[in-house]
Amino acid sequence: METVLSGIRSTGNLHLGNYFGAVQNFLKMQQEYNCYFFVADYHSLTTHPKPDNLHNNVKQVFAEYLAAGIDPELATLYIQSDVPEIPELYLLLNMNSYIGELERTTTFKDKVRKQPENVNAGLLTYPVLMAADILIHRAHKVPVGKDQEQNLEMTRKFAKRFNHMYGVEYFHMPDPFNFGKELVKVPGLDGTGKMGKSDGNGIYLAEEPASIRKKVMSAVTDSGPVKPNQEMTEPVKNLFYLLELMSEKSTLDHFRNAYNTCTIRYGDLKKQLAEDIIKFTDPLRTRINEIYNDEVYLSKVVKMGEEKARASASQTLKDVRKIMGFKSF
Ligand code: ADP
Ligand code: TRP
Repeated sequence: METVLSGIRSTGNLHLGNYFGAVQNFLKMQQEYNCYFFVADYHSLTTHPKPDNLHNNVKQVFAEYLAAGIDPELATLYIQSDVPEIPELYLLLNMNSYIGELERTTTFKDKVRKQPENVNAGLLTYPVLMAADILIHRAHKVPVGKDQEQNLEMTRKFAKRFNHMYGVEYFHMPDPFNFGKELVKVPGLDGTGKMGKSDGNGIYLAEEPASIRKKVMSAVTDSGPVKPNQEMTEPVKNLFYLLELMSEKSTLDHFRNAYNTCTIRYGDLKKQLAEDIIKFTDPLRTRINEIYNDEVYLSKVVKMGEEKARASASQTLKDVRKIMGFKSF
């Protein structure tokens, strides 16, 4: 069975965009592939070095993914820093990656612009750590967004270089993975663009109903259609897209019809949309809180993930050390 691997950033709660764009695919993948999903807490240190929230962020991510339906029996769900084989492989791969190519990486140049006061070496070698994450389980497929494509390309480069350097066919080339036919892009509530955590235009899985209502009611619209079947403006199109995602077909038809006959009241649409979102998020929020507070369950799941991940990782590391010429006395 092919291996799928994905790293999860631990710096932000899951919003509806993450859920429909990524998590839902994870739920399908875990049925069909040998899946490794992990929280990339070492990576988060390159941008969030303070200890204050490190543990709680990891805990929150774990609770959210479990609540959303990741099954720790089916998939291997673990924390990057629980697997010491990853930093060891990272060290070994570092000897075989060049400053020049790392400096040219877009994600690095981006961070240099964004945090000029903290251009740490971890940022420079971020793609090497990511390669170690992937190669440690010799993953076949990696679901990544557009912004991570170059980093995956670097992994392929490091893997190829390793094989060439030591005259082996040990690592295969991991492929980017698009699950499903079309990419879902969940729009935000601010009229344009996609839902994201940075712009405050997102609705979170763990969000309280009152807060969801407030956000949806203040979503951007326009002054309303003036002629039948008028082309929709982007903010209105976005609201209808959300309705399509969250509501019953009859609700969608009702508001479409109201729009096309110029009788629509956006306030009614938003009220309905807010309730339908809450219907979806409410059980999730309850479950997230339950899991977050269940230390016994969480520690059991974390330990199980650690054991499964290390079993696979230690085999790879053993092979790599041998290939590179390490021998024990
Ligand atoms: P964020 O916008 O919260 O920073 P990330 O960039 O960390 O999201 O993305 C995590 C995953 O969620 C990626 O697979 C990304 O493609 C997906 N994702 C994020 N926002 C959306 C969205 N609005 N619609 C669909 N998928 C999304
Ligand atoms: N860099 C990825 C991101 O920012 C997270 C990540 C770390 C990752 N290691 C990975 C993704 C390995 C896929 C495979 O989203």
